[in-house]
Amino acid sequence: MSIQRIIVDTDPGIDDALAILLLAASPEISLQAITVTHGNTTVEKCASNALQLVELARLTHVPVALGASTPLVRELGIAEETHGDGGLGYAVLPRSSTQLYPKHAVDLIIHLIHKYPNEITMLCIGPMTNLALATRRDPSIVPLIKRVVSMAGTIHYPGNATPSSEYNVFCDPHAYDIVVRAGFDLTVVPLDVTYQCLFQKSHIARMTTARPEIVKFIEDATRFYMEFHDEYQNIDGCAINDPLAAAILVRPDLVELLDYHMTVELSGKHARAKTSVDHFKAMGFAPNTKVAMKVNVEGFMDFFIERINNL
Ligand code: RIB
Ligand code: CA
Repeated sequence: MSIQRIIVDTDPGIDDALAILLLAASPEISLQAITVTHGNTTVEKCASNALQLVELARLTHVPVALGASTPLVRELGIAEETHGDGGLGYAVLPRSSTQLYPKHAVDLIIHLIHKYPNEITMLCIGPMTNLALATRRDPSIVPLIKRVVSMAGTIHYPGNATPSSEYNVFCDPHAYDIVVRAGFDLTVVPLDVTYQCLFQKSHIARMTTARPEIVKFIEDATRFYMEFHDEYQNIDGCAINDPLAAAILVRPDLVELLDYHMTVELSGKHARAKTSVDHFKAMGFAPNTKVAMKVNVEGFMDFFIERINNL
């Protein structure tokens, strides 16, 4: 089994929390850092949630660093109707005694990329402000990052932030534009596949061997998330977007990737933050992303539950 060095950039966030639990349950993953960004709630609340989650997941050896508090250009937006005002739905975790990493998330990303050149995969499951800032602060890290896997964007599926945009891109479209154009080995996991992965109460019933506090956390966090999906999107269950992006690090077979040239709309009144792909290669540009357009839903849910049951 080859061990992958991963930095997860995240805005916990209910589905982020599930992704962090999945990473903790995956021996193939050597989590090098958790870097926190604004997004589902303020960066301060996301960082507080991350510090509590590393104790729940027994990841206290992993540094947690505070990152960007606002997008590069647009105003800060948060999604407390989706994740609750604390960011973890109805879940309540014990106060953490773990301290934040003493430097900014961008400094930690740059430090680790130089420490482990060509070894680190960035798993980006929130707005991309931290990675964009890191590439602007130190452009030399771009060729040294092995791969970027991002839960972001939507191709044919309706947007969840606006009719045409996905939340992570909508929060900071300028940051996503920088990342898409940087020249990374970039894999994108859009709503087209994540919204097929609907976590339901029946899945919780299958979590029979996980620690009780893990199951209670998942139950309380996803109950809020399911209520949001029902009330706002008329969906039975909740789309576990971020865990799918995490899962493909270990199980790439769960999705089918297509090579696309992707662009991000930065202006416009109705389509800002829309992610478009040149499917028919009409523009003649070289592909800059690999986009997951098909998913083995049952295989992913089985994998997710099997791993959580090992916690
Ligand atoms: O659009 C879904 C994404 O936005 C997920 O990463 C969720 O956590 C929110 O950040
Ligand atoms: Ca997220």
